[in-house]
Amino acid sequence: MKLRCISCGATPASAAQDFRCIVCGDLLEFFFPGWTSDALSFDAATLKSLWLSRRTSHEALDQSGVWRFRELLPHIPNTEEHVITLREGNTPLYRLPRCARAVGVENLHAKHQGMNPTASFKDTGMTVAASSANQGGFPWVACASTGNTSASMAAYAARGNMRSLVLIPDGQISWGKLSQSLDYGALTCQLRTDFDGCVRILNELVRQKPVYLLNSVNPYRIEGQKTAGIELMEQLAWEPPDHIIVPGGNLGNSSAIGKALLEMRELKLISRLPKLSIIQARGANPFYRSVREFGGKKLEPMTADTLATAIRIGNPASWKKALRVLQATGGEVEEVSEVEIAAAKAEIGADGIGCEPASAVTLAGLKKLRRSGFVKSGEAVVLILTGHLLKDPDFTIKFHRGDLFAGTGDAAEAVKTKHLQRAPVVLDANLEAVIAELDAAERHS
Ligand code: F0G
Repeated sequence: MKLRCISCGATPASAAQDFRCIVCGDLLEFFFPGWTSDALSFDAATLKSLWLSRRTSHEALDQSGVWRFRELLPHIPNTEEHVITLREGNTPLYRLPRCARAVGVENLHAKHQGMNPTASFKDTGMTVAASSANQGGFPWVACASTGNTSASMAAYAARGNMRSLVLIPDGQISWGKLSQSLDYGALTCQLRTDFDGCVRILNELVRQKPVYLLNSVNPYRIEGQKTAGIELMEQLAWEPPDHIIVPGGNLGNSSAIGKALLEMRELKLISRLPKLSIIQARGANPFYRSVREFGGKKLEPMTADTLATAIRIGNPASWKKALRVLQATGGEVEEVSEVEIAAAKAEIGADGIGCEPASAVTLAGLKKLRRSGFVKSGEAVVLILTGHLLKDPDFTIKFHRGDLFAGTGDAAEAVKTKHLQRAPVVLDANLEAVIAELDAAERHS
C-alpha cells in the first residue's frame, strides 16, 4: 500500500505531519499498486467467505467490523500490539418503512453508523488512524472537530495510552459530544472561532509540536471509514443498491465510502456502482455551490451556519476527493433547509431509529432527489446515518416543544412540521388525567 497525492500524483515514502503533499500541498491517499494482479493472493469469492467466517471468531481484530476487512486496509506493523479497537463497525442496516412510504420509494434502508462505540461513524476511521499513531510512538494526538471526531479520538487515545488534544469551536458543540471528550480524558480547548478556525490553528500546531493529526486529511482515517461501504455491500449480499446518500461536511466520509465502492468494483466484489449523492445543509453548502455554480472547478470557502452543528463547515478539506466520487459514480449534490432537516430527523425517529440532525440531511435530500426524478420509486436507496440521536438531545427536545425555530426567519416554514412534534405533557399525578390524555391521543391518531 502506497501514498499518492490526489493532484500531482507524487508518491512520497511517508507523510509529513500535516498529511499534505510536500510538492503541491494537496491531500494524500492510499493506493494499492497491482492488487488486482497476482500480488493479492485472494479472489473475490475467497475474500467474501474469509470476511464472513471472521464473524464467528473471538479474536479482537476479527470482532471489529473494520479490521475484519483488513486485506483492504493499510498494514499496521506488529498488529496485535499496536491496533486499538473498541469493536467498531458491525453496524445495523435497518429498513425505514414509514419514511419509504412518505418519500415514495419501495426499498429504503438506513445504515446506522451512530451504532458505533462512541455513537458516530468516526470510530471506523479512528481505529485505523489512532493505531497508526500508536505504532509511530506519538505521545499526543490532536484534532479540530465539530464534536464527533473529538469524542472518537479521545476514546481511542485513552485506550491506546496516548494523550489527546481537542480543538472545538466554543459554544457550537452539542453537550453529548463535549461530555464524551471530557470523560475520555482529552485536553479540550474551546476556541473562540468556528470549526474552520480550529483547523487553521491545528495545522500550524502540528508543524511545531510532535502531535499526530487525526482529522480526516489523515488518509488512515479514510481507509477505516471505507469499511462502512464494504460492510454495507456484505449486508446486501453484494448486490449494490441504486443509490447511497451521505451527509457532506468536511467531505471525508463521502470520499471514503466512494473509495470503497470504486475499489470493490476493481476487485470484482461488486459488479456495478451505486450512485453516491452528497447532501449539505443550505447554511453550510460550499460543496453544493462548487458543483452547481462552478462545475466543481473551484470551491469558495464560506462562513457556515446551521443547527446541524456536526456539518457546520465552510471550507471542507476533502472536497476534491468527494468530487471525484460524485463524478465516478454519477451521484448528485443537494442542499436542504433547516426546517427540512428537522422534519426529516423526526420522520426517521418515528421509524424507531433516530439520528442526530446532520444525519437527517440524507432523508431530506432524498425527498428532493425524488421530486427532481433523480431517484425513481422502484430504486433501492441506502441512507448513511452518521450519528446517534442522543448526541444532540437539545435539538430534539426543542423541536418537539416547538421552540427550535422560535424567533428565527424559519418560524413560518416550521409551522409545516407541527404534525411531527410530540411535546411532553405535564399532568397532575392522577389516573383520570392520564386516561384523558390517552383517549385524546387515540381520537387524534
Ligand atoms: N454527520 C456527522 C454526525 C458528523 O459528525 C460529520 C462530521 C458529518 C456528518 C460529515 O462528515 O465531515 O466526513 O463530510 N463531523 C466532523 C467532526 C467534522 O469533527 O466530528 P464529513
